[in-house]
Amino acid sequence: MVTKPYKLLFVCLGNICRSPSAEGIMNHLLQQRQLTDQIECDSAGTSSYHIGSSPDGRMTAAAKRQGIRLAGRSRQFVVDDFEQFDRILAMDKSNYQDILQLDCHEKFSDRVYLMCNFCRHHSDDEVPDPYYGGEAGFNYVIELLQDACEGLLEDVLRQI
Ligand code: 4NP
Repeated sequence: MVTKPYKLLFVCLGNICRSPSAEGIMNHLLQQRQLTDQIECDSAGTSSYHIGSSPDGRMTAAAKRQGIRLAGRSRQFVVDDFEQFDRILAMDKSNYQDILQLDCHEKFSDRVYLMCNFCRHHSDDEVPDPYYGGEAGFNYVIELLQDACEGLLEDVLRQI
């Protein structure tokens, strides 16, 4: 029997910093553990600000320092994503609220999570927006997302 892959969507504001990083980190874990047939990832932004752009160069550099490759182009979250993905992971509370507001009939709220809920070693409740800060902020996003992605993967593997 062929089963459909379990699908994760990471969402931030611009889809050029945090959510492409989460996607890159999770894809790295899936490759290491030979799970790419079972679990797939994508990312999106709640805003239209950077549609079509590659990940931010500062974010790409921070990811590369940890051996993570970022790929893809920014796209905006669309209502159809609720149907297409099994879990939608918001980077901060504002992203979380913006996503839920698009779920007009409140049919999909159980698919939407805050990414930091899956951290096992950090107590942050949001992935901070690094866009207007310095290099340390970008490095911290990678560190935090590595923790959250590992916890998320364990949780998904328990479920599927
Ligand atoms: P992201 O970061 O949501 O993690 O992709 C940002 C990117 C762009 C902007 C803000 C945050 N911006 O205001 O243009």
